[in-house]
Amino acid sequence: MRFYLAPMEGITTYIYRNAYHKYYGNIDTYYTPFVANRKLKSRELADVLPDNNKATPLVPQILTNKADVFLEITSQLQDMGYGEVNLNLGCPSGTVVAKRRGAGFLEDPVELEKFLDIIYEKSHISISIKTRLGIDALYEWEDLLNIYKRFPIKEMIIHARTLSQGYSGTPSLEAFKMAQDTLTCPLCYNGDITDIASYKKLIATCPDTTAVMLGRGVIANPSLPQILTADNITAEESQDSFRSFHDELLEGYRDYMSGDQPVLFKMKELWTFRSQYVDIDKKTLKKIRKAQSISAYQSAVEEVLTS
Ligand SMILES: Cc1cc2nc3c(=O)[nH]c(=O)nc-3n(C[C@H](O)[C@H](O)[C@H](O)COP(=O)(O)O)c2cc1C
Repeated sequence: MRFYLAPMEGITTYIYRNAYHKYYGNIDTYYTPFVANRKLKSRELADVLPDNNKATPLVPQILTNKADVFLEITSQLQDMGYGEVNLNLGCPSGTVVAKRRGAGFLEDPVELEKFLDIIYEKSHISISIKTRLGIDALYEWEDLLNIYKRFPIKEMIIHARTLSQGYSGTPSLEAFKMAQDTLTCPLCYNGDITDIASYKKLIATCPDTTAVMLGRGVIANPSLPQILTADNITAEESQDSFRSFHDELLEGYRDYMSGDQPVLFKMKELWTFRSQYVDIDKKTLKKIRKAQSISAYQSAVEEVLTS
């Protein structure tokens, strides 16, 4: 099985990806959160610059519904040495969808097909796609698959939910299976693989699965790929890796951002995910959330790590 780290805006930054790769690895491909501007903003540029991504096998992701913008960004990425880009057809955020981008583009299959016609004809780089199943009904998926099968898609990553499901509700393994029966390009499953039980269910329902993209499950528990491949890791090893990873991430953000507050915001966000996986004493978690300085934050984290 190949494992990919999901792109997560604001979370899987190059600082996160590099620290993750150093202390955990077990990821075959990393994806950047989407870039969307013809002239990349400095944050977008920093995230894709090869100098910032020396160690990780990386595919940059693009969010747009304009073929000329896609081609322009793609050509800049190609100049940096990338051989593949990923098209985002899954983002459910209101502002993105309102502009008919991300999952919002799925609402207009005619325009989507025209867009794909142009980018697959004019691009000199491999294009993979990350898609949802449609806007709100599963019959839309069948129509989308009929469009997708016309194109030389490098790989199709399927977040098996509709736009209206957002990040809740149950992903449809049947829809993924339908894609396996319809498309000939390589496929990757994405959605709610957070533990051995969810992973086993996927494999039992879709035994031909060869790649899985992991998002929130890894942010909560960075050892997840190891756990899924049944590598025996002791609780102690897991705690040691987490501490080293955490400290490197904290230092990375302190170097990159000015002032404690933005750094604390980034780190606290991770604890929100982590607390869904690890049982953390409520009082200590509150101390992490309320910390106003790096030193207060560090001593609260120390309490969790030594408890
Ligand atoms: C905070 C957040 C940011 C995300 N940003 C992106 C993004 O930039 N591009 C993208 O394709 N998906 C994005 N996603 C979706 C994830 O990549 C993934 O498809 C989704 O979380 C489902 O996988 P999971 O259940 O393993 O988390 C984001 C999700 C979250 C929660």
